[in-house]
Amino acid sequence: MKNFLWILIVIAIAMVFPIFFFIKENPFDTASFLSLQEKEMVAWQRARMQINPSKTNHLETFKDMQKNSEPFKNVNSCILIGAPPMEKKLLTIGISSMQRSQGSYLVDTLQSLFFSSSLSEQKHFIVLVHLADPDPTWCGQMISNISTIFKPYIQASQLVVINTPPKSYLPLKNLKKKFNDTPDYVAFYSKQNVDYAFIMNFATNHSDYFLMIEDDVKCVPGFVTQIATTVSAWENKPWVTLEFSQLGFIGKLFRTRDLPCFVHFLLLFYQEMPCDCLLSHFHDLLMQQAPVQFFPSLFRHMGNYSSFESKFSNLKDKEFEDDIGSPNNPAASVYTSLNVTNDSVLMNAYSLDKNFFYSKSAEAGSHLTVVLDAPAKVFRVQVLTGSDLKDENQLKEGQVELGYDSTNRINDCDDYILLGLLVNGILNKQVLSNESGKKVKCVRLLVTATLPSGIIVRHINLWVK
Ligand SMILES: *[C@@H]1O[C@H](CO)[C@@H](O)[C@H](O)[C@H]1NC(C)=O
Ligand SMILES: *[C@@H]1O[C@H](CO)[C@@H](O)[C@H](O)[C@H]1NC(C)=O
Ligand SMILES: *[C@@H]1O[C@H](CO)[C@@H](O)[C@H](O)[C@H]1NC(C)=O
Ligand SMILES: *[C@@H]1O[C@H](CO)[C@@H](O)[C@H](O)[C@H]1NC(C)=O
Ligand SMILES: *[C@@H]1O[C@H](CO)[C@@H](O)[C@H](O)[C@H]1NC(C)=O
Ligand SMILES: *[C@@H]1O[C@H](CO)[C@@H](O)[C@H](O)[C@H]1NC(C)=O
Repeated sequence: MKNFLWILIVIAIAMVFPIFFFIKENPFDTASFLSLQEKEMVAWQRARMQINPSKTNHLETFKDMQKNSEPFKNVNSCILIGAPPMEKKLLTIGISSMQRSQGSYLVDTLQSLFFSSSLSEQKHFIVLVHLADPDPTWCGQMISNISTIFKPYIQASQLVVINTPPKSYLPLKNLKKKFNDTPDYVAFYSKQNVDYAFIMNFATNHSDYFLMIEDDVKCVPGFVTQIATTVSAWENKPWVTLEFSQLGFIGKLFRTRDLPCFVHFLLLFYQEMPCDCLLSHFHDLLMQQAPVQFFPSLFRHMGNYSSFESKFSNLKDKEFEDDIGSPNNPAASVYTSLNVTNDSVLMNAYSLDKNFFYSKSAEAGSHLTVVLDAPAKVFRVQVLTGSDLKDENQLKEGQVELGYDSTNRINDCDDYILLGLLVNGILNKQVLSNESGKKVKCVRLLVTATLPSGIIVRHINLWVK
């Protein structure tokens, strides 16, 4: 009987997923349902998805699944604020937000998204917010708050807020009874699955990639560039999701062309389990063997409670506290457009001792560039500015870039990508993508706003393979 259910489920899935991606050696033939691979898949799925067979009427499940894929056609998510841009972007960042008894972090999350991105990065993404709370008073207040605070972003088509009328929702009452989960929890994740399906459905046509985050996260400066770099390195590889955080459903990146499949999957199984579990079954189905995760996380949880109120989260990104060992700066020369007086040694900026480099003034556009004698795989960069004890002579507005060179320049590179912005005079960052195989030749510190007084560059530390 268990086998029978799973054959039905596989057939149902095969009907809604006419194309199976990522199966390299043995493309899935939808006409031969009982192939060996399929039997294996049925067995595998049965073992992994913990549906309780004694409580399930198999035929009903199958019919339900078919019925449930119907209302999808009538989903009418509507725009509350803003308008999507005319041209397709690189990335849509999706947030689904509900009212919480402890107060909302949504505004802080939006601020973090925009403030952590440079103006040129902001051109490449839009933020899509789904207000998924049935309470019209809360929605009204949220609309008013977001409209006021984020007016410039709304006008620039960088922020769009939507919701979905209750009549589009799948039934959220009399849900399946679960052994392990309380009815409240089942109701919570069932609704969340449908919310996520709606926002992903809306996002399908506006960008090449879609990133889901939650409404209570802080992001790392320059995260968009890191995602863009990673995505270009992974462009031709088979993957379903790239994960830029290990927590829940935060920082999960999809290709928008895969979203329609995942939306169907969420709607078919919305009552079964929370969306992060469904996602891992979706991976199984599309043959992504293991999660593809990148460290450190680009997103941190802000609150210390999760969105489901009885589930306190002790969610912490462990790798943020990792001991990273000592830097091993390889042989290099340092060049700068800053004024080097004869009492300050430029090389001190790159030395591994306690000496530092000081310049009396620093104008916007000035740089300090480390050019490695031999290009190398750099996997971590730390730039420390300002005096050690006091916050004096910090570079408040500056950025660090990685340089590549194809034209054999002597003291520079011909191609730079942004690694990140300094925050409080510091950048400390893992270089995510070693996949492109490109070796870094230059590490450039760029001053983006003129300093009122001098600048201290304490250390540029590199970790090199
Ligand atoms: C909107 O902003 C006001 C004023 O800051 C605040 O009191 C209120 O809680 C906010 N509403 C929501 C839904 O966050
Ligand atoms: C996306 O575009 C395709 C092709 O133009 C269209 O068929 C589909 O309905 C669109 N999807 C959404 C959610 O707007
Ligand atoms: C987290 O919880 C502690 C007590 O459990 C509280 O004092 C603190 O304010 C909370 N932090 C946030 C950001 O809500
Ligand atoms: C460098 O120092 C010279 C002499 O002190 C000064 O004229 C010049 O403006 C300075 N240049 C910069 C970029 O600060
Ligand atoms: C630089 O060195 C010269 C000669 O050693 C000295 O005369 C001059 O005062 C020095 N300048 C500064 C700013 O220390
Ligand atoms: C990238 O780096 C990770 C961790 O340092 C390593 O496990 C992986 O094999 C590297 N990939 C390539 C293609 O170099």
